[in-house]
Amino acid sequence: MARKAPIVVASNRGPVAFARAPDGSIEQRRGVGGLVTAVGGALRGRDAAWVAAAFTNEDREQAARGRFTFDVGGATVRVRLAALDEKLYDAYYNEFSNRILWFLHHYLWETPRAPEPGPAEGAAWDAYETVNERFAELIADEAPEGATAMPQDYHLSLVPGVLRAHRPDLRIGTFWHIPFCQPDQYRVLPDVWGAALLRGMLCADAIGFQTQRWADNFTACCREVLGATVKGKHVSIDGRSARVGVYPVGVDVDLLRSQAGQPEVEEAAKRIDALVGDRTMLLRVDRTELSKNILRGFIAYERLLERRSDLHGRIVHLALLTPSRRAIPEYQEYMRACRARADQINERFSTPDWQPLILDESDDFPATLAAYRRYDILIVNPVFDGMNLVAREGPVINERDGTLILSRNAGAAAELHPALLVNPFDADGTADAIERALGLSERERQERAHALKELAPGVPPGDWLGRQIKDVTRRRGT
Ligand code: G6P
Repeated sequence: MARKAPIVVASNRGPVAFARAPDGSIEQRRGVGGLVTAVGGALRGRDAAWVAAAFTNEDREQAARGRFTFDVGGATVRVRLAALDEKLYDAYYNEFSNRILWFLHHYLWETPRAPEPGPAEGAAWDAYETVNERFAELIADEAPEGATAMPQDYHLSLVPGVLRAHRPDLRIGTFWHIPFCQPDQYRVLPDVWGAALLRGMLCADAIGFQTQRWADNFTACCREVLGATVKGKHVSIDGRSARVGVYPVGVDVDLLRSQAGQPEVEEAAKRIDALVGDRTMLLRVDRTELSKNILRGFIAYERLLERRSDLHGRIVHLALLTPSRRAIPEYQEYMRACRARADQINERFSTPDWQPLILDESDDFPATLAAYRRYDILIVNPVFDGMNLVAREGPVINERDGTLILSRNAGAAAELHPALLVNPFDADGTADAIERALGLSERERQERAHALKELAPGVPPGDWLGRQIKDVTRRRGT
């Protein structure tokens, strides 16, 4: 059997994070996020390396010691951390990646005022270029002749271009985990940045997206912004061509089910029962993130309670939130608005024995799993979302034939047809969907829930990256 080609994966967050333990020693912990499991599964049995950013002091100490090995999802990988000083990391991650690219592709700007690129944004662009070059250097250093490099996501758009110039022997595949916006929105970016980012991505042999919708937006941007030629799945410019593919990421069902059966989840289930009792549970599980549309979700719930006094005392909205990107001012302001709205709803409608909305920001994973098992209605209403794994995880482990209310702008909506789809900008329409979910017949609820259970897992995470690696590798000979 032919030996599998060596792989070098690169992502902003890596498979391992370092932290100082109370006794002063340095502990290593598995990195957070689904990417680690997905990528780990696909790397088993391969010569594999992973390049990631070192952004805490402990990470930087480790970066200075050079490469080390780490076990992830049953694979042993060599890890290289790019040491980035605090200011550089802040400009590349918080300012450029998260305040510019994330806002752009999720349509989060209020365009009469923002963006307003000035010297700070110019410096953020410079930092983004520098960090992408740093990643490319480390990938080149780790990649043997003819290896496949897989830089992940919007943090690393320029990596394929830098790598292509220095290592023409490499196969390069990049995957974009978030939505890709339409050309008119894309052109909000200063032209020079917009063109450079697309050209950088197009230096890959293959570019992957979560859904056809984001892939189509990307090819439309390449055509309209760069004048590239698009033929079927191939985008050509400057005498080379990249293949655009769709690889929706799924969830690891066995892992989720075994986690959901742990004793700490049973304990959490008892705590939730004490809060909710036999009332209907409307659940939200999200990062504290603008694109998740938490505020409009609360407004929809408030409208529901205004319309339906018969529901007072009979429904509880549990919102379980995980803190995210707290350094960004827009996020701080948004969460203040969400908390204020939650307080307002509770002040308006609470009774001595009923709190209509419980907002919990404690990032409690066992409680999340217990709530997934228990919900009657799960609301997932992002303004835009690359995929949204909550929409998959909930139905996989729910035990009550719960109904999913899903934004039509989440990548998951392309597959999860039994959900009730909503326009995320329409709070009244979202309240209508909650009412509809409450009024479904027993039979329709069951049918939808059973169909969702079948569809929700999607492609197993290990296969997800495996398929991309196959396509990138195949591409060279064509
Ligand atoms: C979501 C997105 C990923 C992204 C991650 C970053 O999960 O789907 O594409 O990489 O957020 O979150 P972070 O906390 O690392 O900024």
